[in-house]
Amino acid sequence: MPSDAQIQKMLIAEARQASETAYAPYSSFPVGAAVLTPSREIIRGANIENASYGLSICAERVAIFTAVASGATRIEALAVCVASEVNSPAERMPCGACRQVMTEFMDPSAMVYVDGVGAFPLKDLLPNAFILK
Ligand code: THU
Repeated sequence: MPSDAQIQKMLIAEARQASETAYAPYSSFPVGAAVLTPSREIIRGANIENASYGLSICAERVAIFTAVASGATRIEALAVCVASEVNSPAERMPCGACRQVMTEFMDPSAMVYVDGVGAFPLKDLLPNAFILK
């Protein structure tokens, strides 16, 4: 059973590799993400933009949706990586829409690893989340 630190290292490495498949010709802001499923699979995602800008999708949501479409019902942990070295910590954090989507599939205590910034339980990233029961 890998430790939290090992999981963090593995997911960050996968997210960095995933950023290489980003399609970001409009923003030149490549992002990669990786999620860990309960069956210990790691699934990657990258941001995919569109000429109709609003149709673009973030790396985190691509990773989560790919995992769910592949049969995962929960996500145990997620890592995200902004490929460029020059970004500030705020530019490396997941956007609000992705935090809401994480809330759908991750426990409040599940960890979100942000490359170059740190490790956050999801509940710290989206307190008082909207949940329909
Ligand atoms: N982006 C992500 O992939 N994840 C985030 O959490 C924030 C933003 C992408 C969307 C867009 O392709 C580019 O970064 C610039 O906003």
